Amino acid sequence: MNTHQFPTRKIDVEPGIDSLKSMFPWPREKPEAVMDVIGTFPEQGTVWKAIEYFLPTDAKLIVELGTFYGASLRFMALHATQATLVAVDTWLGSPEFFLRKIAPPIDNTRLYEQFCKNMWDMRERIIPVRNTTLNGLSLLLNLEIKPDFVYVDAAHDALSVLADLVAISSLGTGIRIVGDDYDAHGVQDAVQRYKAHCPGIKLEAGNRWFSFVTV
Ligand SMILES: C[S@@+](CC[C@H](N)C(=O)[O-])C[C@H]1O[C@@H](n2cnc3c(N)ncnc32)[C@H](O)[C@@H]1O
Repeated sequence: MNTHQFPTRKIDVEPGIDSLKSMFPWPREKPEAVMDVIGTFPEQGTVWKAIEYFLPTDAKLIVELGTFYGASLRFMALHATQATLVAVDTWLGSPEFFLRKIAPPIDNTRLYEQFCKNMWDMRERIIPVRNTTLNGLSLLLNLEIKPDFVYVDAAHDALSVLADLVAISSLGTGIRIVGDDYDAHGVQDAVQRYKAHCPGIKLEAGNRWFSFVTV
C-alpha cells in the first residue's frame, strides 16, 4: 500500500454526523418558555426567497451559521424535509446586537434555551453546535462532514464573514452558499474580497442576499 496516499473522501455518506451529534446533545427536557418568539426578522423575506430558490428540496445536509431563535432554520427544515441541519451559534448574540441595538429585547443569557424550546419538535433533525462559527466549521472539516448547503448569517463584520467563507470553502467544492445582509458594508466587503481571490466563483446577489457555489 502506498502510505503517502490520502484517503478518498466519501461524499455520499456522513459518518461524522453521529460523532457531531454525540458532542452536542439536546437538553433532556424541553426548556421552559422564555419569550415565546420564533420569527424575529420579518423583513428577511427576500433572503428567504433566495433560500427557497437555491436550496434543493432533496438536500441531505444543511449548515446554518448564525441561528438565533431558529426562524430561518425552521424555514429551511420545512423546505428540505429530508435534511439533517447543523446549527452553529454561540447563542450569545452578535456584536451588532449590542452596538446598534437592532434586535428585539434579548436576554442573551437564555438565548440557547429559547432556541431549544422553539425547535424542540424538530430536534431529531437538528444538531445544535454551540460554539463559534470557525470552531464549528473546523469540527466539520475534521469529521469529514461536507454539507450540500450553508446559510451564512452569523457575524456581519468583514473579517468574520471572510473567515466564515474561507472556512466553508475548505470543506469542499460544490457547496451552495447563501448569505444574508448583503446590504451591510462588512458583508459586501467580505464577499468582494473573497471573489477577488477566487475569481472562479459565479456570484449572484440581490439587495439583501448573496450566493455562490464553492469551487
Ligand atoms: C442575525 S442572528 C441569526 C438570525 C437567524 N439566521 C434567523 O434569521 O432567524 C445572528 C446569530 O449569530 C450568532 N453569532 C454571531 N457571531 C457568531 C460567531 N462568530 N460564531 C457563532 N455564532 C455567532 C449570534 O449569537 C446570533 O444568534
